[in-house]
Amino acid sequence: MAHVFVTRQLPGDALERLAAEHDLEVWPGDMPPPRETLLAGVAEADGLLSLLVDQVDAELIDAAPRLRAVANYAIGFDNIDVEAATARGIQVGNTPDVLTDATADLAFALLLAMARRLPQGEAQVREGRWRTWEPAGDLGADLSGATLGIVGRGRIGDAVALRADGFGMEVIASSRRSGMPLEELLERADFVSLHCPLTPATRHLIGTEALQRMKPSAYLVNTARGGVVDQVALRLALIAGEIAGAALDVTDPEPLPAGDPLLEAPNLLVVPHVGSATVRTRERMAEMAVENLLAALAGRPMPYPAT
Ligand code: DGY
Repeated sequence: MAHVFVTRQLPGDALERLAAEHDLEVWPGDMPPPRETLLAGVAEADGLLSLLVDQVDAELIDAAPRLRAVANYAIGFDNIDVEAATARGIQVGNTPDVLTDATADLAFALLLAMARRLPQGEAQVREGRWRTWEPAGDLGADLSGATLGIVGRGRIGDAVALRADGFGMEVIASSRRSGMPLEELLERADFVSLHCPLTPATRHLIGTEALQRMKPSAYLVNTARGGVVDQVALRLALIAGEIAGAALDVTDPEPLPAGDPLLEAPNLLVVPHVGSATVRTRERMAEMAVENLLAALAGRPMPYPAT
């Protein structure tokens, strides 16, 4: 029986399956375990079930001499030093595919909400500013006939493209291996949706220069990672009207403090990293993380390795 440290209670009953075979220590808090608790928690652990907010870095790996498996409860694994883990022979897994549709749905929800000015409309109603039906009031942007630029054409990018097709949009894409140059995409797109992983190459991919290339009527959607967008540049671009709006499911840092200057920018919609937040998706993610741990702790390769 191995010892597994789990950094949060998870939805569904997947952890019961893990507990049937291994000794679990589940952090009971609804906030991430403090760093010292995490380091102490892994000191005797053979396995770790981590969330994207837990930093699994070289220091943690050094503090965990018995660690053999890290199962991240996320598709993204930029919180894990995979190189350091691999050098120690530790298997690292993630939860791919299962959150593709949920995340693509959210990207589209954000895109529609911005295009049709839903946050502005809702605020108007609640604040008693809804005066009458106005011929030229609250005018938004059409999706049909508009061009959607997808940055990062992996599974989630593909799922967003499928939705865009249903809305009669023209889809263009740019990714590491295929598609058009990013510069051209930014200049042509009416909506830009980000779906690339956060790596040293994509950090602040969307900065001042990229934002200046976008049309003043274009909207930016980020459901990838906050670090892909330079938020200082985004704030300035929104204030200057260099783009029409931005909707973010992810920010840097997370959570974004309520007093962050970015939140003063106009035409900005921010939601708290809920791309994968549906009941079915989060339960399936737990099952996959558990399947990864069960395999690795039994000496088998993880079914969903982080690659
Ligand atoms: C992930 O799994 O990486 C997503 O960002 C979670 O919503």
